[in-house]
Amino acid sequence: MRIVMIGSGYVGLVSGACLADFGHEVICVDKSTDKIEALERGEVPIFEPGLEAIIAHNRGAGRLSFSMDLAGPVGNADVVFIAVGTPSRRGDGHADLSYVYAAAREIAAAVKGFTVVVTKSTVPVGTGDEIERIFREEFPEKDIAVVSNPEFLREGAAISDFKRPDRIVIGTGDERATELMREVYRPLYLNEAPLYFCERRTSELIKYAANAFLAMKITFINEIADLCESIGADVQKVAKGIGMDKRIGDKFLHAGPGYGGSCFPKDTLALVKTAQDYDSPLRLIETTVLVNDNRKRAMGRKVIAACEGNVRGKKIALLGLTFKPNTDDMRDAPAITIVQALLDGGADVHVFDPEGMEAAKTVLGPVSYGKNPYEIAAGAEALVVVTEWDEFRALDFRRLKQEMKSPVIVDLRNIYKPDEMAKYGFSHFAVGKRKAKI
Ligand code: UDX
Repeated sequence: MRIVMIGSGYVGLVSGACLADFGHEVICVDKSTDKIEALERGEVPIFEPGLEAIIAHNRGAGRLSFSMDLAGPVGNADVVFIAVGTPSRRGDGHADLSYVYAAAREIAAAVKGFTVVVTKSTVPVGTGDEIERIFREEFPEKDIAVVSNPEFLREGAAISDFKRPDRIVIGTGDERATELMREVYRPLYLNEAPLYFCERRTSELIKYAANAFLAMKITFINEIADLCESIGADVQKVAKGIGMDKRIGDKFLHAGPGYGGSCFPKDTLALVKTAQDYDSPLRLIETTVLVNDNRKRAMGRKVIAACEGNVRGKKIALLGLTFKPNTDDMRDAPAITIVQALLDGGADVHVFDPEGMEAAKTVLGPVSYGKNPYEIAAGAEALVVVTEWDEFRALDFRRLKQEMKSPVIVDLRNIYKPDEMAKYGFSHFAVGKRKAKI
């Protein structure tokens, strides 16, 4: 099939490359000259494991190409995906849909025969109806079906999530569109991925409800972690104990510094707003947003408390900056709030992240960027694990102890075992555990 992906960001690039890998002919369109020129040079502007290889393979096979021109590709397409950004609107937290509607109008002007237009971007409930209204009123002569097909891709695991999804949700009531969408995802039948067809508004809400539930689940275990610290329980053991119940499941029960990223913060806020607009408030998600925001600030206080309540003039080293490992994405990363709290407390902050340093330089205050964990640990009065990159899991703790001014580790991702750290002589502050005795 001939597919056009409008928007070559995290979602558009991964979706376009994977659809090409299924054998479809895909053109990824973007307005950014820099992005398209980089992609045509074989450079991938985002860090996503495996993406560079799958793009190169499919470009080489002639199934994947990039273009700044929208009209030409859309005029020949069977299915056009809208994968443009839907950032939180300044000030009120609603999703900013200006890019979606602009793309929709450009697409409508360019379509020739019957075409399926798919919202792949995360869009509030009713956006598909609004796009359909625009098409009906402004382009009455065009034959277009509007379909919702939300993505459930995790950054750092996006390709495997696309190719081995738990489900593919497709919101439409149009028979012809249903057939075309079956064709798009036919290769996934091999992985027995269930195609779940429902109404368009239901599909749009499934995306928000899924993200909000996951954000709430993380926030639940984070609050349980705080309780564990007070009553002397171990949150990782509590998580394991409850996660064995199949009704709860063992995923997304890792206590940490709070969730970040380009989705959970934006989508929880947008869903809360939508619910308020429909006078059916989601109080659990409203609380999730509040608790998560407060948690990031509490993590800054936790680090300061680990340094006897004062970091003025002290060197503090941060391991990891990105909102999660295996990405270069700093959007809403807890590190941003933690660094600011330390700078406000007068600390001399040194940071290292395997992939996020360039992105961090655009959002962090005056910190020093190191080349590796040992360099930033030299002379540090505390080492703080903010992102659980694999390469931080087996550091040379003897060397770290020698390099540091005081042996304090604040492990916000519980990647180290407290009793092991005590053996090395570290004062180890974890999340949701009682402090181990040295
Ligand atoms: C999320 C959803 O998982 C994905 O389905 C959706 O399409 C986009 O949003 P993503 O934001 O890329 O994906 O990352 P995810 O792995 O979900 O982590 C989100 C945040 O939650 C990260 O900050 C992560 O550190 C945090 N997290 C996740 C926890 O703190 N504990 C956990 O157990 C899991």
